[in-house]
Amino acid sequence: MGYKTLCFGFFCILLAYCFYLPVPEDVEEAWKVRTISAILKMSSFMGTIGEYIGLLKYEDILVMLSTVHFTKPVSDENITVIDTKFSNIPVRLYLPKRKSERQRPAVIFIHGGAFVLGSYKMAAYDDLNRWTANKLGAVVVGIDYRLAPKYLFPAALEDCVYTIKFFLQKNILAKYRVDPTRICIMGDSSGGTLAATVTQLLQNDPNFKDKIKAQALMYPGLQSLDTLLPSHQEYQHGPILTREMIIKLASLYVTEDKDLFQAALRNEHMPTESRHLFKFVNWSDFLPEKYKKSYVYTDPVLGKLNASYPVLVDSRLSPLIVNDTQLQSLPLTYIVTCEHDLLRDDSLIYISRLRNVGVKVTHEHIEKGIHGALSFTRAPIFLNLGLKIRDKYINWLEENL
Ligand SMILES: *[C@@H]1O[C@H](CO)[C@@H](O)[C@H](O)[C@H]1NC(C)=O
Ligand SMILES: *[C@@H]1O[C@H](CO)[C@@H](O)[C@H](O)[C@H]1NC(C)=O
Ligand SMILES: *[C@@H]1O[C@H](CO)[C@@H](O)[C@H](O)[C@H]1NC(C)=O
Ligand SMILES: *[C@@H]1O[C@H](CO)[C@@H](O)[C@H](O)[C@H]1NC(C)=O
Repeated sequence: MGYKTLCFGFFCILLAYCFYLPVPEDVEEAWKVRTISAILKMSSFMGTIGEYIGLLKYEDILVMLSTVHFTKPVSDENITVIDTKFSNIPVRLYLPKRKSERQRPAVIFIHGGAFVLGSYKMAAYDDLNRWTANKLGAVVVGIDYRLAPKYLFPAALEDCVYTIKFFLQKNILAKYRVDPTRICIMGDSSGGTLAATVTQLLQNDPNFKDKIKAQALMYPGLQSLDTLLPSHQEYQHGPILTREMIIKLASLYVTEDKDLFQAALRNEHMPTESRHLFKFVNWSDFLPEKYKKSYVYTDPVLGKLNASYPVLVDSRLSPLIVNDTQLQSLPLTYIVTCEHDLLRDDSLIYISRLRNVGVKVTHEHIEKGIHGALSFTRAPIFLNLGLKIRDKYINWLEENL
């Protein structure tokens, strides 16, 4: 069978898949959302088959797709772009050329990709960071932390922490003319998980307390205790993310052992001694009524998984499970949630908990939105939604950073 025939075959299956895949009625740019969902589902399906017959690993195709649009550090008339290292970790810096009397604000950017894929090199992120630097006259720092499954938890987090601590040194901030009182940490999807965690860690570290002015979390996942929140159930088949896909990828950050993935799919992965943590993620207590819909809260099933993974009870994987005392001192927070997003309720619970202890939160809920829109702002899959979210976020930064 020739290469062309094979491609044509795939194209036909993709097309059929697109027609067949349902998406929520009111979703914006429905056909594009269908196409992206179909591509992701097919990649996931082929990964599962490929892994089963020993041809490739589950995540290989998804990783490959994410590298298609990698960019080089190209400066333009407004911004100098440099790839370098902070504390031996690759970073991309966006430095505005425009002269400014004042010191500059800074945004630290942590990319998404379920801890397994992604990079600041992705064209959509490169555009976003360039735009942020230009619009705000800000220094932007993108971090390429180590990825799973080659590097397990807490490698990704440690890289983010080291990079940010390096950047926060007085002489480094001075070198880039950054105003130490105007620094924001931003992350999307799993980058949002990392951003939320790093912000907590820094804020609870006496040497770094109050060094971060704001955190911006774009549709992040924030806990791995309960994999059946209402949004996890409602959107288990997509659009964009499916429950199986996200559990499979995220569990690779913990282990390559399939037992964890299987147990998490059944929501029976947590150990007995984690019972006291469930009050922090109890959607019955923290979700606004509107989002509970007709779902019924059931208490967790514990102690079913033989293998023990201490990381499952670690707040550095699930920033939602810190207590109120640790939340209280968190900085100004911006959170974007999308209605049709499996991870929606993680954020809604975090927002409730943050507001309960008096943290100032700006919550942007996109009624017709889907997960990951910020990474779909480049042809051939260009979502206007991505630019809409970008503009709202930049407006917020302009007013608050
Ligand atoms: C440089 O900045 C100006 C003013 O914001 C903008 O009009 C122009 O498009 C920017 N150039 C690039 C390459 O982004
Ligand atoms: C969750 O909240 C509900 C309602 O407030 C309560 O009945 C249940 O015991 C709680 N479960 C846990 C594990 O916190
Ligand atoms: C867990 O351990 C018990 C006792 O050692 C064993 O009987 C059971 O088959 C194990 N379950 C799994 C899923 O490995
Ligand atoms: C909150 O958690 C921190 C760190 O685990 C602990 O030191 C502190 O005592 C806890 N506070 C409360 C009120 O439980």
